[in-house]
Amino acid sequence: MTLERLKAVYSLVPVRLFQSSAITMHHSQCPMTNLSATFDPLDLSDPFPMLARARREQPVFYSPAIDYWVVTRYEDVKAIFRDHETYTAANTITPIAPFSAAVKEMLAVGDYTPEPVLSNNVPPGHTRIRALVNRLFTPRRMKSFAPAIRDITERGVQRISQQAPLDIVAELTYEYPAYVLFHVLGVPDADVPQVKAWAGNRIKLYYGRPSAAEQIAMTANLVPFWRYVVELVAEKARAPRDDLTSDLIRMRAGDDSVLTLNEIASCMITLLVAGHETTTAQINNALLHLLTERAHWEALCQAPERIPAALEEMMRYDPSVCAWRRLAAKASRISGVDIPAGANLLLMLHSANRDERVFPEPDDIIFERGNLKDQLAFGYGIHYCVGAPLARLEMTILLETLTRALPEMRLAPGQNIEYTRNISFRGPVELQVTW
Ligand code: HEM
Repeated sequence: MTLERLKAVYSLVPVRLFQSSAITMHHSQCPMTNLSATFDPLDLSDPFPMLARARREQPVFYSPAIDYWVVTRYEDVKAIFRDHETYTAANTITPIAPFSAAVKEMLAVGDYTPEPVLSNNVPPGHTRIRALVNRLFTPRRMKSFAPAIRDITERGVQRISQQAPLDIVAELTYEYPAYVLFHVLGVPDADVPQVKAWAGNRIKLYYGRPSAAEQIAMTANLVPFWRYVVELVAEKARAPRDDLTSDLIRMRAGDDSVLTLNEIASCMITLLVAGHETTTAQINNALLHLLTERAHWEALCQAPERIPAALEEMMRYDPSVCAWRRLAAKASRISGVDIPAGANLLLMLHSANRDERVFPEPDDIIFERGNLKDQLAFGYGIHYCVGAPLARLEMTILLETLTRALPEMRLAPGQNIEYTRNISFRGPVELQVTW
């Protein structure tokens, strides 16, 4: 089947109707030339060769496996981010495997009432809430947290420094961003392991493809996570302190038209998911590549002032949020492909960031690129990652501390790097290092 013919078929068949049958159609009729047939959107283990081919041959293609249109070129991804009226963020937290009736019932019974506030919200609601949340993450406020973050980092690195060899994910990077985030949000340290477990669970539930039984087991964890957040907000409302959760309560000043308590709890659960898994995976990606091509690691040990640029290049090279979503509010055309109203789009940030039209020699690590600020790891436009200043600060402090304390660090030989099956979050599950 030719590309033109495929496009004609897609524009005639309502997108939601052909989700399962289309897989057979592609496999049987066009297995070699059509990316739709071979693309497994949940397999994040080695996506780059296929993405390079897509950018060349079929920059926008339909994936029947998830019923999404996949967008791979930089200019297209950025144009979609920029045009938030044609492409809304309403589907960014929609489960890839739709919730069963049993799961919906469990959520209703459990009073699970988070509402769209940031990531999957649209203007004007998004504009109102985002303006308030922006005020939490100013460079000045972040700077005030730097000494505490340095302290958390020193303690973590000190703790592992006598243990080599070790899995640095399990021993440091899995929990480190959560300790930082909890400190700034004013959540007790002792709750880190529990919240980490709840949050990881939510990623699998929304971005992976759990079985019906797994969906139910994961939902059973979602309800207590929400209750915990609601209680946390109530407690801060009773006794505000010097943290970002209390700042939101103060901004509200008891006025629901500014922000309701349910909206604050919804912001908190969003931050408690978005604010650490992403950073953990980004640090792991950076460590993996810097230690694989160890000259880069050595360069940073000798010149730590290059760390911020190195991190920016690591985010370009292997962004932990490797793909993000948009929903077409109206019909449009992207790279010559007709996208119907109501279509789901999967924006391949890791492909955009390796687009050779924007980043020459995209598969090479080059800290000195002149246009690193154009990389899309934090998104772009009205939903640009609100936590970017915190993520940059904590990753810089961690790399500064590691290169100073453990310059001899290297990857343990003979390991398989594994990635969790899901559509959006890419980072090694385990990373054995030694020194
Ligand atoms: C390296 C770490 C991180 C990466 C790679 C990352 C990436 C992203 C991306 C790609 C988006 C979507 C942007 C868009 O739709 O245009 C996003 C949004 C968001 N991020 Fe991050 N993020 C990171 C760290 C954080 C941290 C530390 C926090 C919180 C403290 C955070 C909170 C959020 C929130 C709340 C949104 C939604 C913003 C909105 O819709 O207005 N992220 N992030």
